[in-house]
Amino acid sequence: MNGTLFLVNEHHPLDWEPAEDLLVPADSRWPEIRLHVRAKVMLEQLLHHVGATSVIRPVSGYRPRAEQQQLWEQSMAEHGAVFTRTYVARPGCSEHQTGLAIDLGENIPELDPICPSFPTDGPCGAFRRRAADFGFILRYPKGKETITGIGYEPWHFRYVGWPHARIMEEHGMVLEEYLQWLRTFPLDGPHLHYRGLGRAFEVCYLPPSVTPQTEQPHPGMSLCQCSDTNDGGRVLTLWRDAG
Ligand code: DAL
Ligand code: ZN
Repeated sequence: MNGTLFLVNEHHPLDWEPAEDLLVPADSRWPEIRLHVRAKVMLEQLLHHVGATSVIRPVSGYRPRAEQQQLWEQSMAEHGAVFTRTYVARPGCSEHQTGLAIDLGENIPELDPICPSFPTDGPCGAFRRRAADFGFILRYPKGKETITGIGYEPWHFRYVGWPHARIMEEHGMVLEEYLQWLRTFPLDGPHLHYRGLGRAFEVCYLPPSVTPQTEQPHPGMSLCQCSDTNDGGRVLTLWRDAG
């Protein structure tokens, strides 16, 4: 699959793993925690920007399906079914399997591996407030549990990239809602327009039958991205100079 907008939840499982050469250590101090290279680069910039590089640490990044299975079984045994269904995605249904999700915690000695401490104030709060500017969303916010199928997780961030993270935050939408909404902007209808970062963005939804010629900028367009959504379509994002 291509792009950063795949939906992964209990109704949208994943049957693939990212290519090994796209996975890199999230932080050289914890080389075993890996992320998709795009998410890693932006996470590093975000942490640097909010001055939190030494006080926030990665707790869990890419998890292959087999590791999610182990986590699920261990959590079931230790914490029971209610806790596990709230905070651990079923094997094959975790977005950690994409390499685009990261659990973060305060850099303190006693950190819970499933629910790490990530307060809403201090450096963690600053990280959360700026996350969308670097392409990250708080994937499981409070109040959206019935849509995401997962409990409130202040520590779990998902890289979706620009301008999507910003638009989702401004509209208070989770990924399930956003992808549903994007269906109302088809290729041959009015597109979604957004201005930010000194650029003009145009976003539209493609049905599976359309195979666009992407990554070939047209005049006035600096980038044309196409992302699979794992829900039967694709999202086309055009980056233009704001003019
Ligand atoms: N904690 C999240 C939901 C996961 O297991 O993917
Ligand atoms: Zn997580």
